[in-house]
Amino acid sequence: MPQRPYIVGNWKMNGTRAMLSEARAIDRAAQRHMKVEVAVAPPYTLIHAVHREAAQIAVGAQDCHPGQEGPHTGDISATMLADAGAKFVILGHSERRESHNESNSCVQDKARAALDAGMRVIMCCGEADKIRQSGKAEDFVIQQLRESLPAMENATENLAVAYEPIWAIGTGNSATVDDISAMHTAIRALLVELYGVEEGSEVRILYGGSVNPDNARELLGADEVGGALVGGASLTADSFMGIALAAGEIQDS
Ligand code: PGA
Repeated sequence: MPQRPYIVGNWKMNGTRAMLSEARAIDRAAQRHMKVEVAVAPPYTLIHAVHREAAQIAVGAQDCHPGQEGPHTGDISATMLADAGAKFVILGHSERRESHNESNSCVQDKARAALDAGMRVIMCCGEADKIRQSGKAEDFVIQQLRESLPAMENATENLAVAYEPIWAIGTGNSATVDDISAMHTAIRALLVELYGVEEGSEVRILYGGSVNPDNARELLGADEVGGALVGGASLTADSFMGIALAAGEIQDS
């Protein structure tokens, strides 16, 4: 891993103010592991509180609206998230693509809005089990990214990609190192094609899908893996920082 590994917790729809103690514990531990970049995306309701508590970790959001402001009941813009202390936004997660019918072009519009608001973007991609079984996983993911990534000047400075096979999310059934290496290598080639060699090489590609402290070292050691997007195992400081520790050990080795 040439850059600092990026370990991001996606709390999904979990967490009330009682979870702030975990955020504090994550932040304290992150101060002892400065070789790893640690970040957390809590639900909207906790963004500002986590931001105020955190000295080391960045706080982010799990979605944003493509517009800046206006008559969109229940929606939140990237500008508002930045104002609340969010430094990044996870976009195109398969759970949103599925339950909110988010298309690639909708995700791309959101990415533009987030980058315009000065936020970093973690762009998610990943195939369903059926597609993996049909042998078309790489084609699917590359097409999904081609249509979701924003073509903007200097986009790569604030961009990370997260490969999360849908069948691996929350199942305890992570992808194999060989499959991750193959997919991340294909994604790297696309990033270089879209953004050029220098810029396309600097975008970190995270793996997500049942990462835990026991498998993190192996998964994070796969080719072109620059970090992890972690769901279930990010909900306690102990398990989440176990993953950060594993990422730090790979850096050292
Ligand atoms: P998981 O979720 O770690 O619980 O599999 C990952 C994600 O959906 O980001």
